[in-house]
Amino acid sequence: MEKREQLYEGKAKKVFKTDDPELLIVSYKDDATAFNGLKKGTIAGKGVINNKMSNLLMQNLEEKGVPTHFVRELSDRDTLVKKVSIVPLEVIIRNISAGSFSKRYGVPEGIVFDAPTIEFSYKNDELGDPLLNAYHALALKLATPEEIELIKKYAFAVNDFLKAFWLSCGVTLVDFKLEFGKTSDGKIVLADEISPDTCRLWDVKTGEKLDKDRFRRDLGGVEEAYEEVMKRLLGNL
Ligand code: TMP
Repeated sequence: MEKREQLYEGKAKKVFKTDDPELLIVSYKDDATAFNGLKKGTIAGKGVINNKMSNLLMQNLEEKGVPTHFVRELSDRDTLVKKVSIVPLEVIIRNISAGSFSKRYGVPEGIVFDAPTIEFSYKNDELGDPLLNAYHALALKLATPEEIELIKKYAFAVNDFLKAFWLSCGVTLVDFKLEFGKTSDGKIVLADEISPDTCRLWDVKTGEKLDKDRFRRDLGGVEEAYEEVMKRLLGNL
């Protein structure tokens, strides 16, 4: 399958048409941004790691009954995916306090929750992805009630799988962001990516951050952290 016209360039990926109207190619870049594009940089090798990691995790999720956009890995950076219209919601699951949760509610990072939380943001760069609840999402007609129910069910199923999987790699899954899409026949599937760009991953023993927070917070060792989680993932599949 070959790349045709470029459809879109996002912060971390490019999307290309193919000869099949139902299929697209996503191409992962090394570009990194944070704070809605305010901070820009490069993480060498990130595109290759995120492509492979996301594909391996999505293949495992398919086996667990979570449908995804994944079709086939084409190369180090390129993957064939189903064409979907993205539901404009960022779906965030948290197991432990961190990031915007800690900031918003004035609590330290690292509090382990009794049960995971779910929250939605309206995927809209101009507005800075504002937080909203399911009623707001319905009012804005971002999804139907049935779609929101399914998205919640899939998101918690992803958490159950990812949490256990990362733990087996010696990594604590703190939180993560998912995006869902709708196929041409109206099916909701997991889309976008699952990677250290979109998850907070802490070393179980030391608590060391092994994700994009190293870039966001200028902690150094960014490339090494991505390589380390990839190595642990490959050692445990
Ligand atoms: P937050 O604590 O900044 O709200 O982030 C929660 C999770 O979502 C964290 O794992 C990082 C991820 N995330 C993204 O994937 N994209 C984003 O634009 C933001 C803000 C967070």
